[in-house]
Amino acid sequence: MMNESLRQIVRAMPKAELHIHIEGSLEPELIFALAQRNGVKLSYPTVEALRAAYAFTDLQSFLDIYYAGASVLLHEQDFYDMTMAYLQRAAADQVRHAEIFFDPQTHTERGVPFATVINGIHRACQEGPISASLIMCFLRHLPEESALATLEQALPHRDKIIGVGLDSSEVGHPPEKFARVFAQCRALGLHVVAHAGEEGPPAYIASALDVLQVERIDHGVRILEDAALTARVAQAGIALTVCPLSNVKLCVFPEMGAHNLVQLLDAGLAATINSDDPAYFGGYMNANFEAAFDALPLGLAHAQRLARNSFQAAFLPPAAKQAFLAEVDTYFAQI
Ligand code: ADE
Ligand code: ZN
Repeated sequence: MMNESLRQIVRAMPKAELHIHIEGSLEPELIFALAQRNGVKLSYPTVEALRAAYAFTDLQSFLDIYYAGASVLLHEQDFYDMTMAYLQRAAADQVRHAEIFFDPQTHTERGVPFATVINGIHRACQEGPISASLIMCFLRHLPEESALATLEQALPHRDKIIGVGLDSSEVGHPPEKFARVFAQCRALGLHVVAHAGEEGPPAYIASALDVLQVERIDHGVRILEDAALTARVAQAGIALTVCPLSNVKLCVFPEMGAHNLVQLLDAGLAATINSDDPAYFGGYMNANFEAAFDALPLGLAHAQRLARNSFQAAFLPPAAKQAFLAEVDTYFAQI
């Protein structure tokens, strides 16, 4: 259990969030409000009944409910409202900068136009209280052709996204499946990241690096099963966007005390703490920091390192990055 003074320090420190699926920030109350606004029928009678269904056994059991929840999003204002709610909540946790994932195929497959999705999310990012940019994720359970078509749809909106990612059901959908679409994205100058080593084996982390040439690994907690890969990723300074509450809720680790975050840091890896799908996993950024610091041997030096890692790994222009890092160092110097 961390002491109260460390808790306050961690809560108030400036931080960046690099792994948040905007559809995973949709709180049950907003799902019901949007369902009513849009005349969408939900299979749960009440907010409480929906929340009670958030008992996951693995990634797929979560994804089934997550995609059902997103079905209430129809209009640009819905995407705006969801994104603005997240940005305000993140600001309260002293998140200064967020790099936000969105899943266009979850919506275009239901007939919602790509422009509706991106324009709503992007307008909120421009008007919201913190710095924010967008990473478009391809759903790995869908065919490569669908990812290629999604990239085509994104081209008129190139200026609204900073990069692309890869999410959804990991096992059975290795990074190699998306080699061509990621090559096209890199040629467009987009940053590239991918979920790898959440449920999938370390080999998926290696192919995300070698085949997709990703700049960050999302999750990546299974990397420690491969010592050579661990040394390589640490040496290269490639960040891992770790999501502690997500990993426990999806049974990647049986309890927070068994999470390998300290071992990742001890191996020299640039780990960061993030919320993944905060409405589904029990909390936003500070809840993730507090849960990890409560259960694991993490102290003041780890807090500063995690805050620094988050800005260091961000896709920010050098001057903005240096300013945020200076803010972190000033914050810790006055403690
Ligand atoms: N989509 C939303 N959250 C995800 C996660 N944790 N892993 C893979 N895909 C996701
Ligand atoms: Zn994720």
